[in-house]
Amino acid sequence: MTEQHVHHRTIRSFVRRTGRMTPSQERALAALWPRYGIDYETKALDFPALFGRSADIVLEIGFGNGETLVQSAAGNPGSDFIGIEVHEPGIGHCLLKARDLGIENLRVMSHDAIEVLRHQVPDGSLARINLLFPDPWPKKRHHKRRIVQPAFLELAASKLRSGGALHIATDWENYAEHIDEVVGASAYFKLDERREHRGDQPLDRPTTKFETRGLKRGHHIWDWRFVSV
Ligand SMILES: C[S@@+](CC[C@H](N)C(=O)[O-])C[C@H]1O[C@@H](n2cnc3c(N)ncnc32)[C@H](O)[C@@H]1O
Repeated sequence: MTEQHVHHRTIRSFVRRTGRMTPSQERALAALWPRYGIDYETKALDFPALFGRSADIVLEIGFGNGETLVQSAAGNPGSDFIGIEVHEPGIGHCLLKARDLGIENLRVMSHDAIEVLRHQVPDGSLARINLLFPDPWPKKRHHKRRIVQPAFLELAASKLRSGGALHIATDWENYAEHIDEVVGASAYFKLDERREHRGDQPLDRPTTKFETRGLKRGHHIWDWRFVSV
């Protein structure tokens, strides 16, 4: 590998698992993508044009099966939601749920959130970013894959409007320590609220699938709200 190749190799926070789509998830993806899906392109999105109004934009990174995202959109009709996920069965599940509940204030993307943020989200356009139970990458040699890194924080802050919020939750103690350290040292965010609990005191969000799984295993949950400065 040449030096240039090494230099440009990207460390991603996910490994694209093909997973098994149920036939109904597959049909949902095909049928509902025109209604809810946004294709990846290296061109900035126009949120007011996309939603037909100007409202707070909430972006969720790695929404999994989308249950929490869809519930949040349903519970906050005055805001518009963008969900990003790379796991196709989860996207299919999310679209079915959104259709069943007749959700209008939601759009979904199937691409690396880092690239979406970099190329499609205009600077200063987001009211809030939710990063709920990001992959913990427990092995030390994989820690570099964790999405919460100084460069991610700089990128996220540039997309939030001033005073916008970054919500993070994890059930993995070593990742919680990493988040305290990395965000604590960031010049772009200040801590607004931090909670450690047993699923009984989340910040203002519905419980997620991974959270439920962590709680069943006896894990603690850490929740943070950081505000962009
Ligand atoms: C541990 S799961 C949590 C899912 C969900 N938030 C929950 O709490 O149930 C993390 C998810 O983030 C997604 N993910 C990881 N890195 C991503 C990235 N760079 N862009 C989009 N999705 C990503 C993974 O595909 C995975 O579904």
